[in-house]
Amino acid sequence: MNSRKLRKKFLDFFAARDHRIIPSSSLVPDDPTLLLTAAGMVQFKKVFSGEKKVDYARAATIQKCVRTTDIERVGETARHLTFFEMLGNFSFGDYYKRESIKWAWELITDDLKVDKDRLYITIYQDDDESFAIWHEEMGIHEDRIFRMTEKDNFWSAGPTGPCGPCSEILYDQGENVGCGRPGCKIGCECDRFLEIWNLVFTEFDRDEEGNLHALPRKNIDTGMGLERIAAVMQDVPTVFDTDLFKPIIRVVSKVSGVRLGESGKSDVSIRIIADHARAAAFLIGDGVVPSNEGRGYVLRRLIRRAIRHGRLLGVDEPFFVKVIGAVLETMEDAYRELAEHADYIRQTAEKEEERFLSTLRQGLIIIEEVIEELMSEKATTVPGEVVFRLYDTYGFPVDLTREIALENGLSIAEEEFEKLMEEQRRLSRAKQRFVEADGWAGDASKEIYRDVLEEYGKSDFVGHEVDEVETTIKAIIRGNAILTEADEGEEVELVFEKTPFYAEKGGQIGDRGVIETAGARAEIVDTQEYAPKLISHRGKVVTGKLKMGEQVRAKVDVGRRQAIRRAHTATHVLHWALRLVLGEHAKQAGSLVEPDRLRFDFTHFSALSEDEIKKVERLVNEKVFEHHAVRAYITSLEFAKESGAVALFGEKYGEFVRVVEVGNFSRELCGGSHLGNTSEIGLVKILTEASIGANTRRIEALCGMRAYEYFSGQDATVSELAVILKSDKAALFDRVNVLLSTVRSQEQELLKLQESARKSRVSDLVSSARSINGAQVVLERVEAPDMESLRSYVDLLREKLPSSVVLLASESHGRVLLVAGATSDLVKAGVHAGDLLKKVAPLVGGGGGGRPDMAQAGGKHPEKIAAALEEAWAEIKTMLEIGDEERRPRATGHTPKTTR
Ligand code: ALA
Repeated sequence: MNSRKLRKKFLDFFAARDHRIIPSSSLVPDDPTLLLTAAGMVQFKKVFSGEKKVDYARAATIQKCVRTTDIERVGETARHLTFFEMLGNFSFGDYYKRESIKWAWELITDDLKVDKDRLYITIYQDDDESFAIWHEEMGIHEDRIFRMTEKDNFWSAGPTGPCGPCSEILYDQGENVGCGRPGCKIGCECDRFLEIWNLVFTEFDRDEEGNLHALPRKNIDTGMGLERIAAVMQDVPTVFDTDLFKPIIRVVSKVSGVRLGESGKSDVSIRIIADHARAAAFLIGDGVVPSNEGRGYVLRRLIRRAIRHGRLLGVDEPFFVKVIGAVLETMEDAYRELAEHADYIRQTAEKEEERFLSTLRQGLIIIEEVIEELMSEKATTVPGEVVFRLYDTYGFPVDLTREIALENGLSIAEEEFEKLMEEQRRLSRAKQRFVEADGWAGDASKEIYRDVLEEYGKSDFVGHEVDEVETTIKAIIRGNAILTEADEGEEVELVFEKTPFYAEKGGQIGDRGVIETAGARAEIVDTQEYAPKLISHRGKVVTGKLKMGEQVRAKVDVGRRQAIRRAHTATHVLHWALRLVLGEHAKQAGSLVEPDRLRFDFTHFSALSEDEIKKVERLVNEKVFEHHAVRAYITSLEFAKESGAVALFGEKYGEFVRVVEVGNFSRELCGGSHLGNTSEIGLVKILTEASIGANTRRIEALCGMRAYEYFSGQDATVSELAVILKSDKAALFDRVNVLLSTVRSQEQELLKLQESARKSRVSDLVSSARSINGAQVVLERVEAPDMESLRSYVDLLREKLPSSVVLLASESHGRVLLVAGATSDLVKAGVHAGDLLKKVAPLVGGGGGGRPDMAQAGGKHPEKIAAALEEAWAEIKTMLEIGDEERRPRATGHTPKTTR
């Protein structure tokens, strides 16, 4: 029975028993406590706990799952996978143990006709109720029912939440499959007893302290691994031999030239590649992007691990994307999202492979050297410093270093490595603080804020409602001290009872403004929240004196705040437009919101095309002109998410959140300042788009007045250009084109002139030749900017004068260039261009030499060129008159043999 039929059989079976068939949820769970979806029950957690109501009491799903807890065992065993499909049936306070056991048994033994004699049951140690159902009602012999401890038979999805005792159905694959040890029985780690179906009786909720509370209703959560039941049905020894894997493994074999069965080690690598490719394709398809954090890191690690195993199989070239292709082909019938995002999945995998291959090339060379050295020294540990350097300098993953070390029988000095990592984290924290502090006395690490908070309590932020307010000074801080008053000219931090000043948060920079009393005034230049609800206003008292406990008027700089609002609302509209143009994966990764200026970081794997940028910019401006209302409201996190509000991954949200809604197209969780309507943004202009790291891009844009100023500046430039180019603004294009073609034709003209000047110079040089013994000698100074053009003169002269010696000199940037050449007959007669230069170059303060037919030299005294040419004449005369015969004993270091 192939896997397609198995999926259908399972769903049909439970549909016939009144179960609602629900589609698989995303691998990225809508649940801040979980990194990835690792079980079918994940999408029903809140239904189990009673927090969420659904209009059905029974459900069945085929859920895509990723589990990395067993990653080290993938490929080593016949059954472990990181990605798998879970067939599950669920009851929400409806049926319980009896039906779930009965139906599981019925499906396995009646419908799928699995041999009953090969099946075993496990139950939770004191679950007598399940024992009775299995034994008395299903008629299973008590020898086949095993009571297990909490470790094996009590199931939960995470540290907190719904959980309960469970019962498993196991399939005996036969003695020859297992470890063969005498003690091998149910519960053994080997492959013999294959757990195929887990029935969880979800009746508890575990709280943060680990206490179990009875759930309002008893539930059923079951999970059967599709790959495992497929292996049983297809009567193959491992999940990798099923139809789910075969086409993928075929491609792995094709690209590596290694088949399953060649060796234990290569089998493991082949299986790892196939498994990880499945996980990677599905993760990317659900919007996960390779990165160094969270689920992005899981994905990166899977891809990189697969690629490394490719190398172990001897593949040096990019291959992973081909395996991904096989996954898409095998799985896209069952999972439409794969087909829909096929190109994107391929591209993302390909990019990551490219990136990793270059990291690997560097890192592996180093590791191999280190390991070789350590082995020769008979060492057993890789020093932490080496592991750290590989990681820190080359980005080489630590788990890979660890694995490679292990493969060579070495361990890594974990403690030493951890220490170095901790040190580095400390340094980067310190650095960050330094940047944040950016030249002012305030420092988030200071104890003083804690003191102020403890002594004077929190301040209320009222800046979403009003721009100015009557308030009281709670504390005045300077350096590490709390003051009772601040005098004129003093720079201090002020903390108020309540404040309209927005403290820098969520990318939006802190407000500026003034603090006034009848007799005093302070100017606030920055607002920061150094501890939750401890809002510090940094500023200077410009007149009078401020006292603790005094009543003051706090006024935000309204014009600046409005410009910040414009940038913030524009950021939300930009986020929406990016996702529309690039896809759902384009999510916010960071932002900076300043007066009429914004910076927006988002996940995307490649540079945006000119076209995409234009499209995004146009969409944003359309939304500005369409005049959409912007609303902010507080609601429960639950409701916000249900209504599709975009939450930032990695952010912590409380139970109640603020939602900012733009028109009906953008809804984000956001605590920042916004306009009432998009039209107030005025105008948005994207200035730059660039990469700021792996898979993260950054857009910088202007809005409001600054966008206007940008355009007006551009316009002024155009006007000035028109004046300079003596043209109308409208005719500027034509004017520039005319000028360009004039310049081009003049360049052509110039080249022609230079060529003819050179020719006439050459003919001058030819006529300057002096004869001696039938040879022509040219010794001249010419205008040549570099050696190359000087050489070309020499070449031309040798052509024109078939029996000649030439030495040309030129001056360029205060230096002397010399090139000498001789025709071959004269070389035979004893002339040596290299020797000639050895003689004369010292006269211009240089040196050089070369072959007998062509040589060059430099010097630093241009004023000595004439003298050098003079000397050259004497030297050439000697060379020609003495001739070949007598030249030999001169011992110049050359023998005739080596002259050519
Ligand atoms: N949630 C149960 C499991 O994952 C069925 O094993």
